[in-house]
Amino acid sequence: MMLHIPQVLTAEQVARCKDVMVRAGWVDGNITAGHQAGRVKNNLQLPEDSAEARELGEMVRGAVMRHPMFMSAVLPLQLYPPMFNRYDAGMTFGEHIDNAIRTHPVQPVRVRTDVSSTLFISSPDDYDGGELVVEDTYGSHSVKLPAGDLVIYPATSLHHVTPITRGSRIGCFFWTQSMIRDVSHRTMLFDLDMAIIGLTRDVPDHPSLPALTGHYHNLLRQWAEM
Ligand code: NI
Repeated sequence: MMLHIPQVLTAEQVARCKDVMVRAGWVDGNITAGHQAGRVKNNLQLPEDSAEARELGEMVRGAVMRHPMFMSAVLPLQLYPPMFNRYDAGMTFGEHIDNAIRTHPVQPVRVRTDVSSTLFISSPDDYDGGELVVEDTYGSHSVKLPAGDLVIYPATSLHHVTPITRGSRIGCFFWTQSMIRDVSHRTMLFDLDMAIIGLTRDVPDHPSLPALTGHYHNLLRQWAEM
């Protein structure tokens, strides 16, 4: 399931990101790439342990963990700290799949990357090219979103970023280990949650609501890994 979640960051938070990033020291993005991805990756990144990456990463983490749509669609167990990258003209990231397991840079845990997230910080007017293209069983999906918007997709997907032909594209990306490992289970829970929310809105006193809501929680209890 691929999902666009609008306005995860406010305009003020996007401005703060841009402000910090202008002064930040960027390094070659290959430092965090796996072997295959490293061969096709050509971009810049904020060092994971820099003060800038930590500050902005905490801001993004707080924003997504408060966002009801992200919580419902991802059912997060563990977030790998958000990272920030920049593509200038000519830069690109060829076809790859993200590494399955990441060692958390601070806590003594490993994170299984179930869900990939890309948060757009540059406005689409700031650059040409730079689409995130994600392959799934229904074909190829090209994504370029307004500043502050997020897209999530299964980390099992092949994906790439098309070459930048003008300007710079700044973004944030991170992975989440979900309580629900199986993407089809995760999608079913999300669909059921959205249907219950819709029914609650349209027919608040519907007599089947308690049973439906209970069914959601019983499925979550059945499938969740903690
Ligand atoms: Ni990737």
